[in-house]
Amino acid sequence: MSGRAPGQQRYVARPVAAVGGSLAVPGDKSISHRSVMLAGIARGRSRVSGFLESEDCLATLRAMQSLGVKIERPSAQSVVIDGVGLRGLRGAAHDLDMGNAGTAMRLFIGLLAGQSFDSTLLGDSSLTKRPMERVAAPLRRMGALIETRAGFPPVRIQGQGRLTPIHYDLPVASAQVKSAILLGGLYAQGVTSVSEPAVTRDHSERMLEAFGAGITVKDRTASIAGQSELRACDIEVPGDLSSAAFFIVAGALAAQGTLTLRNVGINPTRTGVIEILRLMGARIRVTNERRSGSEPVADLEIERSDLHGVAVPPALVPLAIDEFPAIFVAAACAAGETTVTGAAELRVKESDRIGAMAEGLERLGADLEVLPDGMRIRGGALRGGRVDSRGDHRIAMAFAVASVRAQGVIEIDDVANVATSFPDFVSTARHAGIDLQEQT
Ligand code: S3P
Repeated sequence: MSGRAPGQQRYVARPVAAVGGSLAVPGDKSISHRSVMLAGIARGRSRVSGFLESEDCLATLRAMQSLGVKIERPSAQSVVIDGVGLRGLRGAAHDLDMGNAGTAMRLFIGLLAGQSFDSTLLGDSSLTKRPMERVAAPLRRMGALIETRAGFPPVRIQGQGRLTPIHYDLPVASAQVKSAILLGGLYAQGVTSVSEPAVTRDHSERMLEAFGAGITVKDRTASIAGQSELRACDIEVPGDLSSAAFFIVAGALAAQGTLTLRNVGINPTRTGVIEILRLMGARIRVTNERRSGSEPVADLEIERSDLHGVAVPPALVPLAIDEFPAIFVAAACAAGETTVTGAAELRVKESDRIGAMAEGLERLGADLEVLPDGMRIRGGALRGGRVDSRGDHRIAMAFAVASVRAQGVIEIDDVANVATSFPDFVSTARHAGIDLQEQT
């Protein structure tokens, strides 16, 4: 979507002593996607503030416009959406391009399965390698007609107008699959329910409730009543803890400084990274706790910390699933051994994040062992070197913060996709004291 040749852009990151100051991270990606989708099918005008203006969320926004929703952008982070109602979407004149965005593609499959028109969803080379049957299979049980290319995008959806409710036991802990089924459930006659094997992010449930959907959550089962209209609702998107995670690690690893991150979402289904880093000895203070609409937010203060290795409790893995690139960097700089298991899902993210992080960390001299579902890392000193982000935004940002503690310059290839989740990463990092430059 960016029009840039893959691999063209790279980072050069030099070691620094101090990371500190006060900064705000951009809006939450998961919540931004959902805000535009739900506002688009609600009745009335919704205003979203703190929207993440990144390539991923813009793919969702453009897709909703292509489906007939009028959307205005009074400023970069505010979006005004005139919802068309549950039955008001219209078939797009062209295929819908989701770019790099797995969340957009999987949630749209759920949203579009019960429409009365057909749709085709495309993605970039990374998204085209990501599994879609995990969403298509349960929706087919609801009567959807969905074709994948041997399980992968492009995805063709023949709108069925109406779906049949099911109960579904998720075989993998995935908020995207859960959310796709709940969105499909809006178009089913009766109550659709989803049970998850472990707690995953609950932004869809919270936001559906805010839009007036008939949704209930009990233990690990969410149930939604179909066919009832959503009411427009204003959404304040909190800062993204997944973006903040890179700075939490940088602040803990730096030799000096105190870093404050303002207005960060601390939804308990997302705070695994804070818990894991605290188990490793990170000094993180959560202050000024408050609410931002239906989501809890706070400021985070991070101080230089002496990190030590841990066995990461498997129950925390889904609550920190996007933060493992940063956690692996922390582990590589910690004293002693860190073991991550139960994280096989990392292999099907924007890249194989176990493979990509292991390869890069080994190039920087880390002593590690790759496991099928995680990694064992014996922490020590990292040297400088050249690593490949494999076009994965979070791998690129993780190696950028590794530079804080490395003994030489780290060069990171193929970083253009940082714009999918954190377009201002370089200037934000520099503001915190990280010596990061982007080169083309
Ligand atoms: C997301 C869910 C997670 C996460 C992704 C965003 C969401 O994916 O990795 O970045 O917004 O629902 P899975 O559901 O595949 O675990």
